[in-house]
Amino acid sequence: MSASSAPGSRITKAVIPAAGLGTRFLPATKATPKEMLPVVDKPAIQYVIEEAVTAGLSDILMITGRNKRPLEDHFDRNYELEEALRRKGDDARLDQVQASSELANIHYVRQGDPRGLGHAVLCAEEHVGEQPFAVLLGDDMMDPRDPLLTRMIDVQQRHGGSVVALMEVDRSQLHLYGCVAAAPNGDDDVVAVSGLVEKPRPADAPSNLAIIGRYVLDPRIFEVLRKTDPGRGGEIQLTDALQALAADPSLGGPVHGVVFRGRRYDTGDRADYLRAIVRLACEREDLGPDFRTWLRSYVQQEMPQGV
Ligand code: G1P
Repeated sequence: MSASSAPGSRITKAVIPAAGLGTRFLPATKATPKEMLPVVDKPAIQYVIEEAVTAGLSDILMITGRNKRPLEDHFDRNYELEEALRRKGDDARLDQVQASSELANIHYVRQGDPRGLGHAVLCAEEHVGEQPFAVLLGDDMMDPRDPLLTRMIDVQQRHGGSVVALMEVDRSQLHLYGCVAAAPNGDDDVVAVSGLVEKPRPADAPSNLAIIGRYVLDPRIFEVLRKTDPGRGGEIQLTDALQALAADPSLGGPVHGVVFRGRRYDTGDRADYLRAIVRLACEREDLGPDFRTWLRSYVQQEMPQGV
């Protein structure tokens, strides 16, 4: 085992693939990246970056593609806007505008051909180097009050190798996810993963544990990814590379899973996106009280019984 994958190698980098086309949100995403769609008043991607920063990862690499300029602009300074807010004396908004440009050290690389999640991660190789690193998928939003990534980093530091985030889902939903074969590993929320399959048919699913979009990966995954053939959907799948690791830990250490039991929103799905907005708006100190009052009366008056 190389020093890079030994338990305890420091983790400082996060990779965020953001080159997807966002077809589920057309026409909103025709000219706007899906990552920029607002959840209440912040773009979805900002929650994801805040999550990485909260877990101690302030070096962020975004894998982008065409049409992704607004992402770069959002996390950069906007002097004109800042000046206008300063002139108005609107300090609260000025702080918010500046906060997104000071969040983290953000770098960008373009994926070119979108050849799948595994290929997107491979684009991070040069930036990541020899350290274990996190991957956060922008469509999955974890409630900021339910820490997951910090726990995954702990587990990686303890066991080395790679760690995937898992969630129990209804079997009818498994075809939407990567799915794992796993065995308990002492801790209530940690499992040892012995096999992974991308978007299985119900009959082929080894468990009801689905991979949700957080990973902490051993850098030797790059070598495996380079040798991974296109899989499901003709794309290079990260799940397939992890399967190779699970089958032969000498390639890059073991694979563990952390079972998440907190609140997660799939902001790539329209209904779940709306749920995330309603939930977070209800809980906001500034908007919540009025919004909850309105929501209560809306449900009572305008939703017919039983619908
Ligand atoms: C990707 C992964 C899949 C994982 C999912 C989580 O799929 O390939 O294994 O379960 O993210 O959101 P996608 O949703 O990009 O098709």
